[in-house]
Amino acid sequence: MAERTAKLSVDGNEIDLPVLSPSEGYDAIDIGVLIKEGYVTYDPGFMSTASCESTITYIDGDEGILLHRGYPIEQLAEQSNYLELTYLLLYGKLPDQTEFEEYKSRIRQETFVDERLVALCSSLPRDAHPMGVVCSLVGAMSAIYHNEVDITDAVCRDQVSIRLIAQIPICAAIAYRHSIGKPMLPANPDLDYAEHFLHLMFSEAEDSPVNPVLAKAMDRIFLLHADHEQNASTSTVRLAGSTDANPYASIAAGIAALWGPSHGGANEAVLAMLNDIGSLDKIGGYVAKAKNPDDPFRIMGFGHRVYKNYDPRATVMQQTCDEVLNELGIESDPILQMARALEKIALEDEYFVERRLYPNVDFYSGIILKAMGIPVELFTVIFVTGRTSGWIAQWCELVSEAYKIGRPRQMYTGSCNRDYVPIEAR
Ligand code: SDX
Repeated sequence: MAERTAKLSVDGNEIDLPVLSPSEGYDAIDIGVLIKEGYVTYDPGFMSTASCESTITYIDGDEGILLHRGYPIEQLAEQSNYLELTYLLLYGKLPDQTEFEEYKSRIRQETFVDERLVALCSSLPRDAHPMGVVCSLVGAMSAIYHNEVDITDAVCRDQVSIRLIAQIPICAAIAYRHSIGKPMLPANPDLDYAEHFLHLMFSEAEDSPVNPVLAKAMDRIFLLHADHEQNASTSTVRLAGSTDANPYASIAAGIAALWGPSHGGANEAVLAMLNDIGSLDKIGGYVAKAKNPDDPFRIMGFGHRVYKNYDPRATVMQQTCDEVLNELGIESDPILQMARALEKIALEDEYFVERRLYPNVDFYSGIILKAMGIPVELFTVIFVTGRTSGWIAQWCELVSEAYKIGRPRQMYTGSCNRDYVPIEAR
């Protein structure tokens, strides 16, 4: 019997539900017995539903706290780097120097892609959206590597993790270089992770240098996007993984889910919104549209299902934004000025204040990426590149323990049982 129970009383029928205590966050009421009592819970959007137990990431939305394996995102952004964070997400501890060198060596050994991925990409139109291209490339990885994947083998799961983390930036670069009609450069595993990504994306020659400030900013952007509890795309990866599906295919499903402008696609949508607004004097009109319940327009990059305070990643992103723009000598970027003005107006407006709507991770990331020369349609691909480590760490956490296939129930409000009517009688 659980130490604590909640009592649910329905029509005089009392049901004891175990109350589970997490290490951080809300207590969880285990409702598993309800189906045997003839009930299901109803929670569209899973506002109050924990889908799993996890030890990887914790968010306190009221306090604006984000921890990865207990370490605050602010400290990781300041003192760590993306590749070290991927190790932490995968293995639950910070590596010592020897462990980290060995890990980086394994990543380097996987820093290439099967040439058939490049051929697959070249079969797609130049103006194909890069999110669709990257989703196709990871889907193709599921086809190429399917026969060697044994999800019950920990060594194999680790190999899949290393390969995906090493190769997703290359997939992103393949998509970009194809879109501008430029051939891929050979991989150079001796470069640091983010430096290598920018090199594959933008370098004209194999020995072209990468701006270290931009490489550091890119590394931090990957780090800030790495993992975020059971958001829509991570939940998609877990649901696909719960069917014992191919892990590369499960990650491709996560890429598809992230694409939506309500989720990872918001960074691209922020820039489109700021361009639509066009000038500082138009901001008030757009804020009024966002507040109008009859108008579907929303301020992209604002609001969050969990954060009812500043998204701590947005705060770090804002600092990075200043660093990048100063480095590039773009102090008076009109888009940034508009973003700052929009943020100020929204944060002072009662509508946003009472709904506790704050800038999220996507609000400033787009401005930095634009300043770094990343094309807008690649913004969400950058999100994919950072989030792949979180997705695969969450997939490993699911598959390495006993798990059940995810199969939600529903509340049916359709027609009750009725007899078929032949067409001549209708
Ligand atoms: C990401 O889950 C994660 O962790 C996601 C993520 C991650 O790292 O994986 O953090 C990444 O997806 C960040 C979010 C990026 N999306 C956007 O920036 C799109 C704009 N934001 C909204 O669409 C919205 O805020 C969501 C989708 C992010 C959250 O939606 P919810 O939790 O379902 O909230 P809701 O739609 O019920 O809104 C509550 C109220 C509503 O008003 P009322 O009906 O109460 O009058 O707030 C309003 C909404 O209309 N509202 C907004 C708004 N967001 C919410 N009004 C104007 N502009 C907005 N952006």
